[in-house]
Amino acid sequence: MGGSYKLVRVFRQLIDSVLDASVFWSFDASGYRRHARNFHPQDLNVDLSGRVMLVTGANGGIGLEVARTLARLGAEVRLLCRSVERGQQALEAVSAESAHSTVSLDVVDVSSLASVRAFVDSFEGERVDALIHNAGLIAEERTLTKDGIELTLATHIIGPFLLSRLLEPKLIAAAPGRVIWVSSGGMYTTKLSLADLDWQEREQFDGVAAYAQTKRMQVILAEMLAEAWAGKGIVCQAMHPGWVDTGGLQKSLPNFTRFMDGRLRDAQQGADTVVWLAAADRSLASTGKFWLDRRVSRTHYLPNTREQAEDRQRLWALCEELSGI
Ligand SMILES: NC(=O)c1ccc[n+]([C@@H]2O[C@H](COP(=O)([O-])OP(=O)(O)OC[C@H]3O[C@@H](n4cnc5c(N)ncnc54)[C@H](OP(=O)(O)O)[C@@H]3O)[C@@H](O)[C@H]2O)c1
Repeated sequence: MGGSYKLVRVFRQLIDSVLDASVFWSFDASGYRRHARNFHPQDLNVDLSGRVMLVTGANGGIGLEVARTLARLGAEVRLLCRSVERGQQALEAVSAESAHSTVSLDVVDVSSLASVRAFVDSFEGERVDALIHNAGLIAEERTLTKDGIELTLATHIIGPFLLSRLLEPKLIAAAPGRVIWVSSGGMYTTKLSLADLDWQEREQFDGVAAYAQTKRMQVILAEMLAEAWAGKGIVCQAMHPGWVDTGGLQKSLPNFTRFMDGRLRDAQQGADTVVWLAAADRSLASTGKFWLDRRVSRTHYLPNTREQAEDRQRLWALCEELSGI
């Protein structure tokens, strides 16, 4: 009996490894359902009362679902949105569902250094239990922000880096404070490169390539911040949500969305690991990792995407220089 049970388990693990290696049957909704069989159901049986959690890009898609779930679990949730109107709509929706939690809106454009600084200056709270870097986009054309930084880089890296560093004392005050970067499986396709960051030298702007490059940077920065914060009471993680049916995906990759019809994850499935990293005790056991479906995931599939140590240091220096920290 015991022998045949073991055999079934080994066979199941083998099938899981093959499906995970396929990527397709890992990042899609069936991958989520398969991975969810290994979740610990009690992990999110938590009361987050008294914890303050900040979600950037909280007015749609994954960010809205994260905010909703954290508020339902009792956290004080601050929605950091760049549009007053869209932010207000999200605020009403989240507040209506979580009568016992405090939910508020802060108008913050994370691609703008002035906006990030103004938010931190006006932030009166003493603690930040979780800072979730969710805001993201695939830019249609090359755009420089007012700070002179390419928009994708500013949104995914420089603004969030500044926000993380400025909020450091409040994250420490909440120890364990948690910083979570919503990266993307798209980063697997690329190696860290710091050449031509403002896309001036290349003939054509490629929004998907700029996206993948900055998503790779997020994973590396999460590792570096985790190292810098070791022993200080801040845990820093990166994750990817799989392929999720959101307004952002439909707009930026319409053909892929059509091709994946019926196979994409829903927002709740995409938000699950973000919520788990922000709320569960179990996720505090490590720092500086890259997660998919509550499980540590590899950061490279291809042999030629590994960066050199000097390039990691250059990325850090660049973040400090461009953010003016
Ligand atoms: N959907 C997927 O399959 C998928 C896969 C991998 C990774 N991700 C990542 O998941 C995150 C959420 O994506 P999503 O699919 O939920 O996209 P989404 O529906 O487009 O949501 C993105 C959110 O980010 C906000 N945002 C963009 N730029 C901002 C800025 N400068 N300041 C503040 N907020 C800003 C957007 O606000 P506006 O409404 O004002 O534009 C929106 O609320 C992104 O980081 C994305 O890269 C998604």
